Amino acid sequence: MPLYSEKVMDHFRNPRNLGSIENADGVGEAGNAVCGDIMKIYLKVDDGIITDVKFETFGCGSAIASSSMATEMIKGKSVKDALKLSNKAVTEALDGLPAHKLHCSVLAEEAVQAAVRDYCEKHGLNFEDLK
Ligand code: FES
Repeated sequence: MPLYSEKVMDHFRNPRNLGSIENADGVGEAGNAVCGDIMKIYLKVDDGIITDVKFETFGCGSAIASSSMATEMIKGKSVKDALKLSNKAVTEALDGLPAHKLHCSVLAEEAVQAAVRDYCEKHGLNFEDLK
């Protein structure tokens, strides 16, 4: 069995929502100190709904695939729903990741959370109220 699912390979080779957003409503970054990979998520939010999302990931293929999938999963959702995105959900949507690559999907969860937190701070909202 190949190490990586077809979905991982597809999102790695053709990442969705790659790039940044100028004047984003929320920007979040997450990194892993062990591998040194960094993921950044940009959100455009209109009336509590994520109308656009982009990512920049300086990291491994699994981190790129995880960011790409995570952006697809939160686009069009409310910021409250985006906070519910777990690394498990991202991994499942990718049809799995090898055990030693699970932390790559954790970066996606953490970067989304950080972006929503930043959105709240910039817009005078209480992050904890959204949870
Ligand atoms: Fe660390 Fe993938 S190896 S994020």
